[in-house]
Amino acid sequence: MDPNFLRIFICLWFFTSKVTSQQNYTKNLVLACDGTDKTGTIPDNLYTCNGKNKSCQGFLLFKSQPSYNSVLTISKLTHSDPSKLAHVNNVSLSANFPTNKEVVVPVNCSCSGKYYQANSSFVIPTSQDTYFSIANNTYQGLSSCDSLIDENIYNFTSLLPGYELRVPLRCACPTSNQILNGTEYLLTYSVYWGDTVPKLSDRFNVSIKSILVGNGFSEREEDPTLFPFTTILIPFSAKPDSIKTKIQTLQMQSPNRYVLNDNTKGKSKRGFYLCMGVLAASTFLVISCIAVFVACLNHEKKKENQTPNLKKWILPKEVVDGIADMDQAFRIFSLDELKMATNNFSVEFRLKGSVYRGILAGEEVAIKKMNTNVSKVVNILHKMNHFNLIRLHGICEDEGYFYLVYKFMENGCLKDWLCNEKFSFTQSWSQRIQIALDIAKGLQYLHNFTNPASVHKDINSRNILLDRNVRAKIANFGLARSTERGENGFVSMKLVGTRGYMPPEYLDFGSVTTKMDVYAFGVVMLELITGKDVILMHDGRRTEYLSTAMISVMAGEDLETKLGDFIDSNLRGNYGLELALAITRLSMSCLNRDPTSRPSMNEVASALVNIQMGSMKFLLSN
Ligand SMILES: *[C@@H]1O[C@H](CO)[C@@H](O)[C@H](O)[C@H]1NC(C)=O
Ligand SMILES: *[C@@H]1O[C@H](CO)[C@@H](O)[C@H](O)[C@H]1NC(C)=O
Ligand SMILES: *[C@@H]1O[C@H](CO)[C@@H](O)[C@H](O)[C@H]1NC(C)=O
Ligand SMILES: *[C@@H]1O[C@H](CO)[C@@H](O)[C@H](O)[C@H]1NC(C)=O
Ligand SMILES: *[C@@H]1O[C@H](CO)[C@@H](O)[C@H](O)[C@H]1NC(C)=O
Ligand SMILES: *[C@@H]1O[C@H](CO)[C@@H](O)[C@H](O)[C@H]1NC(C)=O
Ligand SMILES: *[C@@H]1O[C@H](CO)[C@@H](O)[C@H](O)[C@H]1NC(C)=O
Ligand SMILES: *[C@@H]1O[C@H](CO)[C@@H](O)[C@H](O)[C@H]1NC(C)=O
Ligand SMILES: *[C@@H]1O[C@H](CO)[C@@H](O)[C@H](O)[C@H]1NC(C)=O
Repeated sequence: MDPNFLRIFICLWFFTSKVTSQQNYTKNLVLACDGTDKTGTIPDNLYTCNGKNKSCQGFLLFKSQPSYNSVLTISKLTHSDPSKLAHVNNVSLSANFPTNKEVVVPVNCSCSGKYYQANSSFVIPTSQDTYFSIANNTYQGLSSCDSLIDENIYNFTSLLPGYELRVPLRCACPTSNQILNGTEYLLTYSVYWGDTVPKLSDRFNVSIKSILVGNGFSEREEDPTLFPFTTILIPFSAKPDSIKTKIQTLQMQSPNRYVLNDNTKGKSKRGFYLCMGVLAASTFLVISCIAVFVACLNHEKKKENQTPNLKKWILPKEVVDGIADMDQAFRIFSLDELKMATNNFSVEFRLKGSVYRGILAGEEVAIKKMNTNVSKVVNILHKMNHFNLIRLHGICEDEGYFYLVYKFMENGCLKDWLCNEKFSFTQSWSQRIQIALDIAKGLQYLHNFTNPASVHKDINSRNILLDRNVRAKIANFGLARSTERGENGFVSMKLVGTRGYMPPEYLDFGSVTTKMDVYAFGVVMLELITGKDVILMHDGRRTEYLSTAMISVMAGEDLETKLGDFIDSNLRGNYGLELALAITRLSMSCLNRDPTSRPSMNEVASALVNIQMGSMKFLLSN
């Protein structure tokens, strides 16, 4: 045989075997985030496009977390098809997952240039978010900081809430070699504390060898070092819907074994990575020590308290039944615990009325004392699980009094926030638009995701609470009702609610539909725009409702000047007229006398998203 031919053959064989080699584990290099590489060719960011097919069905494993804990929220976060996601996990579309439950997420994985990715997008929620926190914390390492920097135009120093980021998720399609060996799908798994290749092989019932080969480890390295929040690929020979997705409670392990990998030869990456690595490693260490400590404390507490609490439990059966499927964080407190939390309900712990501030297990809570039966409230609250609805931590019953324990909202109610001088410098259009959007999303959820729809019935600026990041949550579900009779709602004999917020059809006929909340929301938006009270006073006498006043502002000529005068002085000069007009028009449409002409909360929310985009553009161009 011609020796040259042989040489060429060997070369070719070597070349092709290289091209079809599997993916390489990125070690902790993937945690780097220096954002200086503008070429978009950092090989550690995403998996190389070397599979047999340019696109395929990929899978990710996502751990359910408080804001992403349902089929709908997780599929939105990952741009995955919700019905597929529900199907793969054998749950219904409306299912919620307990915290830390592993959820299999099907994604469309395809080559974009030299790398595989599944495209998703994410609207930045708070000013604390960074490219790193979004990749590592929100997406749990399923995306990477540098690939976010590559895909997005925003300078990492100037990320603002409301910006929409493109998020490439790490995924891959099997190579020809893997297909020959029976692999059909690859699951991107984000390594957790304590994970090792043998343990993962055991959990997912796939061979150690296939994991090693699939991630570019040498086959002799039986138990290579894995770094938390980096990804590895698990090869499956069938759709991973049969994965035993055991509910993983946080298993904290000594992080000592995750020593920094010093095998950086061959990789000529900057020393920056090393610093990041050290930083990350030491952060892990500190955080996990604290976490272990807190976990221990909690554990001790639970043991002590559980039994006596259950004995004291005498709430109506319907509530107890509701609690059975409530999320695990919900607790039944004893009065003694609440007394301790509030220094025996002392004056200095009183927020207002019968609402107290308290400290329970190191966390600030608000405790509301009521002498009415709370089953209706609890029944509605327990079905809801949304970022923009106040979260009920637990409940206590003692001698006919009921105590509801909520998450504490640092910035108090919207009404106070709007008229508090202290905040006037920091209040901006973008913040107010965000608040409006938050309320709209909360109501959208309330109206659409419970069946039959629920109506809050008492939306007003005192029932909107603001958390530490000035994100709004709807509270006070005391009057909330389910519209048992479907679309057309029902007729209420007794009128309850807040003056200035009640729509005409309710005042005239007692008619209750979701459009009632839309009307009240329109009034709250006017408050956000004008900073004025809903009842305008003149010389100490009530003159007219804010909504009526706005109608006359919007009518007739010289709109620009009139609207300019009417808008909150804190915002004046700091807005585009078009933007102010758009928001005002939206709120006026909510205030339509005819309920059927008012938009639905779905429509309001999407209009607000557009307005928010517009305001970003306006800010950027100024
Ligand atoms: C994995 O790493 C090896 C050695 O550094 C390299 O030759 C190979 O091309 C890499 N494979 C991929 C898919 O990037
Ligand atoms: C690759 O594509 C072919 C044809 O498009 C398809 O039949 C096959 O199932 C795909 N393989 C994988 C692993 O997705
Ligand atoms: C994924 O791809 C399929 C077929 O190409 C398409 O029908 C589907 O809409 C895609 N899903 C998403 C969420 O993009
Ligand atoms: C899916 O869940 C139902 C009950 O929710 C159960 O009966 C069924 O066996 C499950 N299917 C699989 C494949 O696990
Ligand atoms: C994903 O996004 C990248 C760049 O943003 C683009 O090139 C690619 O075509 C997109 N892929 C799909 C399937 O939409
Ligand atoms: C990455 O995210 C995880 C999970 O949210 C968190 O525990 C860890 O501290 C984060 N890492 C860093 C370096 O912030
Ligand atoms: C990002 O902002 C920083 C500080 O404002 C600046 O030094 C840097 O040059 C900017 N980078 C880019 C790519 O614009
Ligand atoms: C693990 O996989 C093997 C085949 O690879 C199969 O025979 C066995 O039943 C599986 N075990 C479980 C518990 O699913
Ligand atoms: C695939 O099979 C070949 C030959 O049986 C083997 O050498 C190779 O290591 C296997 N690869 C994987 C990923 O199991």
